[in-house]
Amino acid sequence: MAAKENNLNIVALCDLIPASMADKIAKCGLPADIKQYTDYKQMLEEEDLDLVAIATESGKHAAIALDCIEKGINVIIEKPIALSLEDADAIIAAAEKKGVKVCACHQNRFNKSIQKIREALEQGRFGRLFHGAAHIRWNRGRSYYEQASWRGTWEQDGGALMNQCIHNIDLLRWMMGDEITEVFAYTDRLNHDYIEAEDLGIALIKFKNGAYGIIEGTTNVYPANLEETLYLFGEKGTVKAGGQSVNIIEEWIFADQADNPEVVKAEYGENPPNIYGFGHKPLYADMIEAIRNKRKPYVDAEAGRRAIELVLAIYKSAAEGKSVVFPLDKCATVDFFGRFSKHYYGHAMR
Ligand SMILES: NC(=O)c1ccc[n+]([C@@H]2O[C@H](COP(=O)([O-])OP(=O)(O)OC[C@H]3O[C@@H](n4cnc5c(N)ncnc54)[C@H](O)[C@@H]3O)[C@@H](O)[C@H]2O)c1
Repeated sequence: MAAKENNLNIVALCDLIPASMADKIAKCGLPADIKQYTDYKQMLEEEDLDLVAIATESGKHAAIALDCIEKGINVIIEKPIALSLEDADAIIAAAEKKGVKVCACHQNRFNKSIQKIREALEQGRFGRLFHGAAHIRWNRGRSYYEQASWRGTWEQDGGALMNQCIHNIDLLRWMMGDEITEVFAYTDRLNHDYIEAEDLGIALIKFKNGAYGIIEGTTNVYPANLEETLYLFGEKGTVKAGGQSVNIIEEWIFADQADNPEVVKAEYGENPPNIYGFGHKPLYADMIEAIRNKRKPYVDAEAGRRAIELVLAIYKSAAEGKSVVFPLDKCATVDFFGRFSKHYYGHAMR
């Protein structure tokens, strides 16, 4: 839909399941005779493409992205861009070599609320940041996992943190200054014994700038999604974004009193129809401009890597029962195969 909303010339669709393409054609009002492929490699051979959006199961993102990049095609990769740091590094290196753009689809960065907070941060209105907190208190039930067998698997998805919580994890890291020294975490699978990965993660982060971060992410909240919140606490400012997916500004307090908090809350709060929000359209618009103007996209592959690095560090810390020092080198979701089975005795199963 975001491609259509940005007036892109959508020349082809690809899905293993033709009915899924028919569904997209109907939902997005695409021409019924649009080219359709079930083999993406054939599509890359036959079509002259400037941009491919990759939205398959997460474990397939990297291989498809690398094939596109090899052909000199720019890519928007749904989050998470890959499930291993090796794959993320390969994407970054290949894109650099081929001179193509890679955008990581962390669309919440374009929420009006988040853009406003980022502006205040860049203007230095918080002063020194002390700590930030990201809460993702959501619900996913059996029917969600039954819709697609890849969900909740180590090979194709990861758990609540890698799938549902990664947007807010990305926001916290980005706002707090990106550079991390250390992470300590617990993860568990308390309520979904039919998936492989975690449904709860709790993490403490030490940033290089001396600030701290807290992450609490879960898909266990009874009986439905409750909230996704991001708090930033600085020496001269306190902000809370909330709502179902950080679309609303709930607290806006700054020592400089440069604006009226009630006006900011009213102007920069949105109430989207679903948790995905309105960010896809501006994210695609930014990527189009990045390609046209030969600049980096606002959310590039490095940003996508930083988000998965933090999630993988949380997995590693929880599995090893000790803190993980950054930067993280090689790590992948498949390292945690069997993590919540009775027979798990330690890390590194691959
Ligand atoms: N940015 C967001 O807010 C957001 C929201 C939902 C999902 N996602 C991400 O999007 C991805 C897809 O999630 P979903 O819930 O839509 O999954 P899904 O299972 O509903 O859809 C995945 C589709 O990919 C197709 N596919 C698989 N392998 C393929 C291949 N080799 N070639 C072509 N098509 C192929 C499948 O047939 C299926 O139709 C995941 O990575 C997920 O994390 C992002």
